[in-house]
Amino acid sequence: MKLLSISALAGLLIAQVASRAVGSDGKLVVGYWTGSDVSTLNFSQLTHVNYAFSTIQDGVPNLPDTLKSLVPAAHAADTKVLLSIGGWGGGNGFTPSFNNSAGRAKFVKATKKIIDETGIDGIDIDWEYPGEPGACGQPYQADDTANYLTVLKELRAAIGNKKILSAATATHPFVDNKGKPSKDISAFAKVFDYINLMSYDLNGIWGLTTGANAPMVKGRGGVAASVVQGVTDWSKAGMPMNQIVVGTPFYGHNMTSVHSMGKNSPTDEYVPVVGGNTGHNCNGGGFSTETGWTDIVPYLAANRTSAVAPWVRKFDTITRTPWLTNTKTNEFISYDDPISLAEKVDYVVCMDLLGVMTWELSLDNGELLRVLAEIFDKAKPHGHQHGGHSKSAHCVPTGPPKA
Ligand SMILES: *[C@@H]1O[C@H](CO)[C@@H](O)[C@H](O)[C@H]1NC(C)=O
Ligand SMILES: *[C@@H]1O[C@H](CO)[C@@H](O)[C@H](O)[C@H]1NC(C)=O
Ligand SMILES: *[C@@H]1O[C@H](CO)[C@@H](O)[C@H](O)[C@H]1NC(C)=O
Ligand SMILES: *[C@@H]1O[C@H](CO)[C@@H](O)[C@H](O)[C@H]1NC(C)=O
Repeated sequence: MKLLSISALAGLLIAQVASRAVGSDGKLVVGYWTGSDVSTLNFSQLTHVNYAFSTIQDGVPNLPDTLKSLVPAAHAADTKVLLSIGGWGGGNGFTPSFNNSAGRAKFVKATKKIIDETGIDGIDIDWEYPGEPGACGQPYQADDTANYLTVLKELRAAIGNKKILSAATATHPFVDNKGKPSKDISAFAKVFDYINLMSYDLNGIWGLTTGANAPMVKGRGGVAASVVQGVTDWSKAGMPMNQIVVGTPFYGHNMTSVHSMGKNSPTDEYVPVVGGNTGHNCNGGGFSTETGWTDIVPYLAANRTSAVAPWVRKFDTITRTPWLTNTKTNEFISYDDPISLAEKVDYVVCMDLLGVMTWELSLDNGELLRVLAEIFDKAKPHGHQHGGHSKSAHCVPTGPPKA
């Protein structure tokens, strides 16, 4: 009798998980969220919500009030909640807390207390970036990455293996004590459940030209960073494919080109920008150019593949992202849409990565998260194919996107 009821219970649990359509392959859809009204979240399309942000104050992460409503609502829908600590401009506390053992102990104790008191499923650390200059005045030092690993091991020991530890990361691996991307970050793979690649904010007003916010691969101009570069470099440095979650933006970056781009070919999205090079790496100039999907929608036709005049929409078949140019004002917006996001989902499935992440749920009207959630259906059960990076080339589409 007892055995029977246990297996009945197991069946029930499986049925519950399946009912939320989390991929039988266990794919993740992680959404960062800065909002406060939980009724705006569609939990059935999210496996994890990362509440953003908590910051370290006097060595202790603060406890956002919204967790009180978020945790029960998410758990009722079988979605996990993580508290994300840090963010751009929220990283002043990392170096001074983590560079000494008393500071680490204080952080670990306070973080464990938050987990115990709120019932959250884990902690996401968004340190931008260990060992590198971040927002203006943010302290950093050569052994940040080493200290990061130490505090993560201490935190893992304190909270156990059932709680999630994840990080938001740059597209390059954490830097070594010389400021160069580390060649071996496999020790981080042991403490983190997974990493969320911030494969966006790659080109913008902080550079010299217009360019793709979140290129799948490097375009004809702009920086070398991209989704494929990030996945390749992290996996080469020892982060297993099934611990990499690819970040996608629910926003674009706008800027103004010095001349009209209306007649440019779609892959020619690199034109000198008015007021460029404004130092995103210090003053966060990039925030002033963020255009959420809901603010982009009015510039687009209902089919999303055409724009409303004087805007013109093009799709860069190298970066696999669309862009808009205003033929009257020369404003330019690089963004992601249902087409580019579907290609990123397909890439994640093809490469057998863990899932997709987005910044940020409040910027969507429901149109984009739906596309990410298609990963649950696209990832059919199959044996994990580790070391899939050799497949990279065939996982990136070429030519015109499927409409
Ligand atoms: C820790 O970081 C703070 C802030 O940058 C610095 O003032 C302090 O000297 C550092 N301590 C150690 C031991 O590195
Ligand atoms: C560019 O971004 C800023 C900041 O979000 C916004 O105020 C402005 O309206 C955007 N421009 C366009 C053309 O959408
Ligand atoms: C999209 O809609 C616009 C405006 O209605 C139309 O001109 C265009 O042909 C449509 N494109 C496709 C591919 O259907
Ligand atoms: C919420 O998600 C479900 C399941 O994917 C979907 O059927 C529904 O349309 C979504 N609701 C909104 C408002 O997007």
